[in-house]
Amino acid sequence: MAEQTGVPPAGPPASPPLIEGRGITRLYSMGDSQVAALRGVDFRIFLGENVAIIGPSGSGKSTLLHILGLLDRPSAGQYLFAGVDTDTLDDDRLAVLRNRAIGFIFQSFNLVSGESALENVAAPLVYAGVRRKERIERAEESLARVGLADRMHHDPSQLSGGQRQRVAIARALVTRPAVILADEPTGNLDSRSSADVFSLLQELQAEGLTLVTITHDQRIADRAARVLRVEDGMLVEHDAPAPYLDHAVAPAGAGGVVADEDASPTPEDPGLRTLGLLAEGDAS
Ligand SMILES: Nc1ncnc2c1ncn2[C@@H]1O[C@H](COP(=O)(O)OP(=O)(O)OP(=O)(O)O)[C@@H](O)[C@H]1O
Ligand SMILES: [Mg+2]
Repeated sequence: MAEQTGVPPAGPPASPPLIEGRGITRLYSMGDSQVAALRGVDFRIFLGENVAIIGPSGSGKSTLLHILGLLDRPSAGQYLFAGVDTDTLDDDRLAVLRNRAIGFIFQSFNLVSGESALENVAAPLVYAGVRRKERIERAEESLARVGLADRMHHDPSQLSGGQRQRVAIARALVTRPAVILADEPTGNLDSRSSADVFSLLQELQAEGLTLVTITHDQRIADRAARVLRVEDGMLVEHDAPAPYLDHAVAPAGAGGVVADEDASPTPEDPGLRTLGLLAEGDAS
């Protein structure tokens, strides 16, 4: 980070974690009984980190990722996003935050068939209120970024598994989120396609994106800077968070991923942008 007189030292040490959980519990009601999928989990993830979540089947990994992604709320405990207690946000604000700040990738791709790759990738921008011309441009850019410039008009059924997952990554990137949450992104892929998808995710993370990946793939876990292990609804953190990473601050426009051209790029930018979103509230 460049040192400039009169400019306070760059943000990360003073910035809140991008993602913070305090005592997060998730209970599911099953008839008369309850299943505790998460039991009092604490974690902090900083901007630009590369974190893998591992653990046995049924241990609570997907439950945790759904809470991180604001698809689900904890039964107890606090979940803070960019320092804001998400429990204070109504459903509309949560939806805006989810749409603008978070990108998801699932094992099963979750693409809409009957719509082209381009339409699939542009879809989150419809919800974000971006005009059609810009939606197309940004979806094309995003597909080009994942190496699918020549497959934009294909239906998902006309693409290989690895290509479908790259479309899903393009869709996750198109809103320029601060974080990508991936639930076993290579789980349905052969080893060659897994390697491609995995390399792409690593590149995006190196460009400044925060990456949280659930995986059974030891190579992904080995490449992550930090591994969180979930066991029986509890988190065993192997390493301390890394809030001082140089690449935690993305240069303006890096990969088109973190920086928003409407906002002035400052070290704290994605967090502030997120807070701005929250203040805007019902921004479309
Ligand atoms: N909707 C639900 N209703 C009831 N119980 C649930 C529900 N979703 C998950 N569970 C239970 O919560 C626990 C954690 O599930 P979760 O899907 O988070 O596991 P996981 O670690 O992602 O497993 P896998 O590696 O197999 O994907 C499991 O015991 C599961 O049966
Ligand atoms: Mg799971």
